[in-house]
Amino acid sequence: MKKVLLVAASAALAMGSFTVQANPFDALGCSGCHGAGGKSAIPTYPSLAKSARPDLDVVKALKDFQSGARKDPTMSAMAPLVAGQEQAIADYLAGQ
Ligand code: HEC
Repeated sequence: MKKVLLVAASAALAMGSFTVQANPFDALGCSGCHGAGGKSAIPTYPSLAKSARPDLDVVKALKDFQSGARKDPTMSAMAPLVAGQEQAIADYLAGQ
């Protein structure tokens, strides 16, 4: 019985971390503004998906918001929250 519970718990854990790794964009709330898969239907929020924005450098944009080189009331607050995950986000968006 104990063993079964343990297996179930580690499976749930593995699934949890897989979700975060597979899609940090949703997990971090970015899709709330930028749309599912970074495809936005609202002009205020730019699309970020590679298919819509082939020339966008997501990592650079996030680092610029973090450093203050680029300022936006929303993104200057959001970007620091994803420190260390810029590349994972960019990788996800590259497949969209
Ligand atoms: C509350 C709404 C909101 C949320 C949540 C949000 N963003 Fe943004 N984001 C914006 C707005 C507005 C802009 C446009 C800012 C500008 O023009 O400088 C933007 C711009 C960007 C850009 C630059 C796009 C470009 O065209 O240069 C990137 C990259 C970005 N966001 C990534 C993210 C990521 C990653 C997250 C999740 C951690 C996120 N955003 C969450 C509103 C949001």
